[in-house]
This record gives sequence, structure tokens and C-alpha cells, in this order.
Amino acid sequence: MSTEWSKTSWRNFPALQQPNWPDKAEHEQVVAEIAELPPLVFAGEIRDLKKQLALAAEGNAFVLQGGDCAEEFAMCKAPVIREMLKVILQMAVVISYAGGKPVVKLGRMAGQYAKPRSADTEMVGGVELPSYRGDMVNAIDPTPERRRPDPRRMLEGYFRACATMNIVRAFTRGGFAALDRVHAWNNAFVANSPQGQNYEKLAKNIDQAINFMKLIGIDTEIPQIKQASFYTSHEALLLGYEEALTRRDSTTGDWYDCSAHMLWIGDRTRQLDGAHIEFLRGVLNPIGMKVGPKHDLDEVKRIIRRLNPDNEPGRLTLITRFGAKKIEEHLPQLAREMKREGFNLVWSCDPMHGNTYTAASGYKTRNFDEILQEIRAFFQIHWNEGTVPGGVHFELTGENVTECTGGGREILDEHLINNYMTNCDPRLNAEQSLDLAFQIAEMLR
Ligand code: PEP
Ligand code: CO
Repeated sequence: MSTEWSKTSWRNFPALQQPNWPDKAEHEQVVAEIAELPPLVFAGEIRDLKKQLALAAEGNAFVLQGGDCAEEFAMCKAPVIREMLKVILQMAVVISYAGGKPVVKLGRMAGQYAKPRSADTEMVGGVELPSYRGDMVNAIDPTPERRRPDPRRMLEGYFRACATMNIVRAFTRGGFAALDRVHAWNNAFVANSPQGQNYEKLAKNIDQAINFMKLIGIDTEIPQIKQASFYTSHEALLLGYEEALTRRDSTTGDWYDCSAHMLWIGDRTRQLDGAHIEFLRGVLNPIGMKVGPKHDLDEVKRIIRRLNPDNEPGRLTLITRFGAKKIEEHLPQLAREMKREGFNLVWSCDPMHGNTYTAASGYKTRNFDEILQEIRAFFQIHWNEGTVPGGVHFELTGENVTECTGGGREILDEHLINNYMTNCDPRLNAEQSLDLAFQIAEMLR
């Protein structure tokens, strides 16, 4: 099976979930144009991330991956990106300080612009339209013209990903993410909540620790305190875009997909003989793979061997997304079998995608208690099986949205309408996210 890999060899395999580009020549033209543009990330950074993920595989670090279900072009604005970063930094500091493990921070950011859909078309007001596949493909507006897949949007996605990446680097390196500023990450609408208050206490402890270091003459003007390491990730769905950003590292000669530090494969596109697996087997980035209730154990094993033939730690993260009601049925056996095979894996829990339901109001939502229940079961099952619960994967936002029900403010079905902003899946708001971070820290301890 292992024929020669190249960044275009995926083209010889069936690729699911690709848009029906009306003008194929124009798509190829855009891929060629992006291939001439600079990469978004550098191979050395990707290798650093892989080392940190290897620590998470053995339980010596914890992975926090989060961001929008689908980033929107219109939300590529400094305040929106800053609020997203704040909530992730805040969760990370809670998990590391209260949970006692270093946290690997991964944004679903700077390229999460393409979505798999259950059908190619949908009915809107009696009219059949192409499904919305993310801003890098078409627009959400329900008109035939705006829903037409337009490859020029990939180019725009590239530039917006660059702009996002740039401000993320500035925030994380330029002092915004310094540990002596932890208070400033508390979101205004969260600050007075019980979780916001708990966070203030924790932040005060960190302040005191840093002040004490200064007092006894330890230099605190160091990168460990003044900067945060932060990595980007998205679903590697549009293979033309990923191919265009796949580059040979000049220092090692190896191939990396430089559209993001980590790429993941969705639950719908991980066929053993499909184009996505073919593409990702050849790049050296850390790879995530979603695994849902419909998986076939034997196929999962074969995919793992194909993606990580050398069993390199940090290369592969299995992101399980069974749902609170199904995790007990599936995860124990999966964990046991993977352990028996001796696979080096990071185990991460996506408690979002298996817990989606449509509320009576018609809104697609997820309930806070079910999300928490899946996370608890995830930890418990891995402890029982002697495998390592290594991370979590969330859809969240720093905005004060009402998209998921429950949590400290007891968002009810009838409240969803108040501030339901997502174009895609419902996200945790900053308060619900912080709440989960405290609960996870508790579990880790
Ligand atoms: C997602 O992460 O947004 C997603 C589509 O997940 P999955 O592939 O697990 O359904
Ligand atoms: Co989603």
C-alpha cells in the first residue's frame, strides 16, 4: 500500500467533503498562487509542539485545544481574537496552577475556515442551496450566488489566517500573556461570577509567588514568565489549501504542512484509503484524529499504523467524541485495544460533538452538564484502563454568547435566542469555559 508519497499524491485517492468547485481551473490557479506565498508557521515550531505532545502522552503535560467551531472572516478582528486568547490563557493557568501540570495550548485558530457537512445541499425557505462549508469555501448568506463555492476565498482565508497568526504572536510574545498579568485575562462579564472570583484568588497567589521571586532576587524578566507558547491547529479538510502550504523544511529536508502547527482529521474524512489519510501520512506535523461512536476498531488500528509507522510519541492524538451517553460503551474497549497494541498516543476528549442536540426552540445546542459528564467519564475510564487522559478539545469563545445550555448562569432553552452568534456548532462562553477548567484541574489533582 505504501506507494511513494508526495504533497500531491492524495489526488489519486477519493477525497470526501471537498466542495464542488464550479471552475476547477480557477481552483488550481489559487492553489498555485498560495504555494508561492510564505508559510504560516516554521518547522522548528512544529517540532517543539511535537515534543510537548510527547510529554502529554506520558502524562507529564496536558493539552488544551479550543476555539470556534468555524472561524469567520468577519470575526478576524483584534478584540475578538484577544478575547479568545484570554479565555484560553485563563483556562491554561487554572489547569496548570490548580491541576499541577504544564498545559500545551492549541487554538482552533488561524485557519479553521472549512467544515464538513452531512449533505451537499440544504433547503432554505423552500429553495435548495449548496450547504455552507465554511468561509474559505462559500458565504453563509442563503442565496445561490453567495453559496457558490469560490476558490478565491481560500486566498482570502490564507491572508486572514496570517493576520490572526500575527496578532496571536504579538499578544503571546509582546507582554500581553505575561504571567504577572493574569488578572487582566479575567473577562469583564465573568469577573463577578463565582468562577471569576475563584480565578481572582488564584491570580493573587500567582502574583504573590512572582513578587516573592523578585524580592529574593530571582530575575522574573524571563520568557517563562513574560511570554506564552501558543500553537495553532485546524481540521485539514480542504486538501488543495493544505497541499499549497506544504513545504520542505530547509534545515532537515522533511515535509511539513505549514498552514498550522497541528492538523486534525475529522470523523467523516478518516477513511483508511481516502485522500486525507494519504495526505497527512507524509507530513511530519503532529496529527489529531477524531474518533466517534461509528468507528471500526480494526480500521482505527490500521490508520494508526499508516499515520505513525514508527510509533513516534507526540505524532498522534486520538480525539474521542462519543457523547456522554455513549462514552461508557466505546472508550473502555478502544483504550484497552490501543494499549494492547502498544501505540504511543495522546488521548484527548472532545466533549462537544457527541453531545449536540436541537432544542425545542430550534437552536442547535449542547448542555453543560453533559459536557462535564463526558469529561469525567473520559478521566475515569482512562484511569481504569491504565491509559493517560492527556487533554481536552473544546468549541468555545471569549464572547458572552448563549449557545450552550446550563452552567453557572443556568442558560435555558429560551435564553439561547439572546445571543446565539455561531454560524456552525454551539460554543461554550467564557464563563462556562472557566468553570470547566476548574473542574478539570480538580480531576487532574
Ligand atoms: C469539528 O471538530 O468541528 C468537527 C466537525 O468534528 P468531528 O469531525 O468530530 O465531527
Ligand atoms: Co464543530
